Amino acid sequence: MSLSAPTPRVAIIVVAAGSGTRLGEPLPKAFVELDGRSILSRSLDPIFGLAEPAQVVVVAPSTHSSEARDIVEQAAGQASDACTVVVGGDSRQASVAAGLAVLEPSVEVVLVHDAARALAPRSLFERVVVAVDSSGRGAIPGLAVSDTIKRVDASSTVLETVDRSQLSAVQTPQAFPRAELVAAYAAADREFTDDAALIQHVGGSVAIVAGDPLAFKITTPWDLRRAAQLLAEGSSSGRPQASGPAFRTGVGVDAHAFDDGQPLWIAGLFWPGEAGLAGHSDGDAVAHALCDALLSAAGLADIGGIFGVDDPRLEGAHAEVFLVETLRLLHDSGFAPVNASVQLVGNRPRFAPRKAEAQERLTALLGCPVSVSATTTDSLGFTGRGEGIAAIATALIAPLPRPAAGAGA
Ligand code: CTP
Ligand code: MG
Repeated sequence: MSLSAPTPRVAIIVVAAGSGTRLGEPLPKAFVELDGRSILSRSLDPIFGLAEPAQVVVVAPSTHSSEARDIVEQAAGQASDACTVVVGGDSRQASVAAGLAVLEPSVEVVLVHDAARALAPRSLFERVVVAVDSSGRGAIPGLAVSDTIKRVDASSTVLETVDRSQLSAVQTPQAFPRAELVAAYAAADREFTDDAALIQHVGGSVAIVAGDPLAFKITTPWDLRRAAQLLAEGSSSGRPQASGPAFRTGVGVDAHAFDDGQPLWIAGLFWPGEAGLAGHSDGDAVAHALCDALLSAAGLADIGGIFGVDDPRLEGAHAEVFLVETLRLLHDSGFAPVNASVQLVGNRPRFAPRKAEAQERLTALLGCPVSVSATTTDSLGFTGRGEGIAAIATALIAPLPRPAAGAGA
């Protein structure tokens, strides 16, 4: 039993047992060198830097299990007791199953990660754990698809253009409640390319959280070269430096007057039976303050400048419209949110009973921990007189080093 994680609540299964056919190197992909160290070693960097200690299970090819153990011990240092190396199977699914078989009894949340995504940053691991903790269901990172996607037939004739707004390119780590993942694997009757597909096959539900361009999978020699280039540029540790100049903070404030004729939407939730807020959109001051905090942290225009105040498409628009677009602008500017905090100021609605729900909703939308609190102002000012609601938010963001963006059609 480990000193660092005697009863780990989280386990991370790193699958590294593939042969790397498409990479075309003479040894299994996870053991191929990437800027002086193996792909497997690089993929473990963010894991041993996590604040919450985890059981780490590395699934290795039978030919390389002792090399895998050496790499894991070196990466883990004093935490090596919390690590297990097991031999994988003929398919990725069989390799994950081998990892599931050695989980500690205390583990409640399981992350499955491809060693081939060697530059996936620590924030991505944290993001999926937060999402599972707050929602109780699986969470997987995904990126919006920027290319136009066509469906084609066997003779390469284009059949149709697929609506890309409904598509997400998914990555790992993928996180799930342990019991759900174990049950899905026990019931598996065919092969899937990721764990979320298996969960869905048995009727489970999975949410997408914001992915990270650095979590791309090293599949071809081109990918390996790109990963090496990013490391050489020093831009791809992908991990914000706690004391470095990388972090940026922002602040946002918003206020809306009550309007009895409107439904109330606040913190991304509908509040039945409560007076609503006046505004061109739904008047969700909590969401708007969060947007402004994120936008100001990135040095972007404020919410009024970006969304306008009379765009007919935004009439009655809810939190997700503003937050998802803000996140996209942030990513396009090379940043990702680390966390955000927002306080609602007003006499009503009574917030405490739905605080957890509000946090879960906003956390899922932004893909980072969002804490929400509420206060009153001792009858002072417009909030104290019950004329409206104000919200004040702060956000922390970190650079998202990325390869040069390809132009989407
Ligand atoms: N994987 C595994 N066991 C397998 C197959 C794949 O553990 N039998 C792992 C790989 O090591 C990799 C991840 O699953 O980290 C994603 O798979 P992929 O990128 O397809 O890797 P390979 O299968 O090794 O590559 P290829 O398909 O080109 O042979
Ligand atoms: Mg493969």
